[in-house]
Amino acid sequence: MLATLTLFLGLPLALATQSCAPLVPVTFDSTTIPQLLGQWFYIAGASRYPPHLAELRAVTFEAFSFSPGSHEDELNITEIIRMNETCVVRNSSRIQVFQQNSTLVHVDDNGVVSTARLIQSDRDLLIVNHINIDSPNLSLSARTPKVSKEHMEEFKAHLQCLGFTEQEVFYASTEHACPLPRDEDNADPQLG
Ligand SMILES: *[C@@H]1O[C@H](CO)[C@@H](O)[C@H](O)[C@H]1NC(C)=O
Ligand SMILES: *[C@@H]1O[C@H](CO)[C@@H](O)[C@H](O)[C@H]1NC(C)=O
Ligand SMILES: *[C@@H]1O[C@H](CO)[C@@H](O)[C@H](O)[C@H]1NC(C)=O
Ligand SMILES: *[C@@H]1O[C@H](CO)[C@@H](O)[C@H](O)[C@H]1NC(C)=O
Ligand SMILES: *[C@@H]1O[C@H](CO)[C@@H](O)[C@H](O)[C@H]1NC(C)=O
Repeated sequence: MLATLTLFLGLPLALATQSCAPLVPVTFDSTTIPQLLGQWFYIAGASRYPPHLAELRAVTFEAFSFSPGSHEDELNITEIIRMNETCVVRNSSRIQVFQQNSTLVHVDDNGVVSTARLIQSDRDLLIVNHINIDSPNLSLSARTPKVSKEHMEEFKAHLQCLGFTEQEVFYASTEHACPLPRDEDNADPQLG
């Protein structure tokens, strides 16, 4: 569910007070892909886009890992997601990295395409804003299943500036963690 790679930035003017830090997109360069590789944990997200909202509601845990894909600008993704109580593994979607316009295009196993940009933050955080649909959205993932209070506050401040209320924010929970697929040989992780 890299639909959690879905963020939005429809700044309602009334909420754009002086305390709102702008969402500054990352400009990609040759270091971008190496910095994305490896394991990430989805932490929280919010969206007003109904299909994403349904997914945010259903998902209580998600870990994903980026590995080099078939081309230089492509990343393969393995995701393990607890959705509606059940752990599911998805390993057939990929990300195309467009350096020229600093966008990520996620193609899932059903061929659904979504376009996202990365928002500048700590290098151990992955803040994503989906740009192909016109409604507010933002998601936070991190190298660890939990983030510091400071990082969470920073993310929540962005959400607030986008006009989300606390009730509209969905959080992953480590209590719902799924076993991580370690390697291909360990082909039968205990799921559920
Ligand atoms: C997400 O937010 C951005 C602006 O921050 C907006 O351009 C985009 O259309 C939104 N995407 C979705 C999927 O709602
Ligand atoms: C990436 O995924 C594609 C399609 O699922 C697969 O054919 C390819 O072998 C994978 N690449 C690597 C390097 O694992
Ligand atoms: C999860 O549950 C919701 C509500 O019961 C349902 O609409 C949705 O299709 C389910 N999703 C999956 C992937 O099972
Ligand atoms: C995805 O998982 C299936 C089943 O475990 C495996 O056969 C396949 O090689 C994996 N594909 C990739 C790209 O890792
Ligand atoms: C980014 O560039 C790619 C390749 O040129 C293009 O296909 C894609 O539509 C562009 N995306 C945006 C959001 O401009």
